[in-house]
Amino acid sequence: MQIAIDGPASAGKSTIAKLLAKQMHYIYLDTGAMYRAVTWWALKQHLPLNDEQQILQSLGTEPIEFVPAADGQHVRMFGTDITTAIRSEEVTNNVSQVSALPGVRAEMTKRQRQIAAGQNIVMDGRDIGTTVLPQAAVKIFMVASVAERAKRRFKDNAEKGITVPLATLAQEIAERDYKDSHRAQSPLKKAADAVEIDTTHLTIPQVVDAIVAVINEKKQHM
Ligand code: DC
Repeated sequence: MQIAIDGPASAGKSTIAKLLAKQMHYIYLDTGAMYRAVTWWALKQHLPLNDEQQILQSLGTEPIEFVPAADGQHVRMFGTDITTAIRSEEVTNNVSQVSALPGVRAEMTKRQRQIAAGQNIVMDGRDIGTTVLPQAAVKIFMVASVAERAKRRFKDNAEKGITVPLATLAQEIAERDYKDSHRAQSPLKKAADAVEIDTTHLTIPQVVDAIVAVINEKKQHM
């Protein structure tokens, strides 16, 4: 079964998708990490972030690897562990630009479909239910208020020793929402057949349970 989890930045998609995949013994693919990896590479190579030809050429067929580790999945590319590097403020603030490039999206979509083919998989992103896996059996669209998402990121950052003011985070999240939902190519949009879950006032286990309920309901009708 393929499970698509889409929604805006910091709505809790990856936390939930990871737990869900573990509970169901499914593969988990964080598609945002793939766009972050490409952005990390483009920044490292000092490539112009609006030049998809150069970015795609430089990327070539280099795989973005997801390697299981004791502390969760690690992301590797060009022989480097980039798990932490792709979460930097620099990558975070430039990834919308890179992920808006049609050629980059086409390449990532192709890779994501190859990974998902014939697998039981939980995939999270922005366009999984609408574009990457339109046939996914279960589609979830997770949302939460900007204030709540800023609070969650503030807490994540604090654990990593990063101190960005709450108001700045809220502004960055609102900007990323706008860019992600207004780009021409595969904008962030709820699929017509997706189930929307507002996580603002829900705990992590409550969200997982809500999705499991959707999955069980679906299985009864398969
Ligand atoms: O989920 P995230 O914050 O790690 O995603 C990083 C960026 O990648 C986000 O700004 C939007 C983009 N993205 C996308 O365009 N399509 C996806 N399927 C996943 C992420």
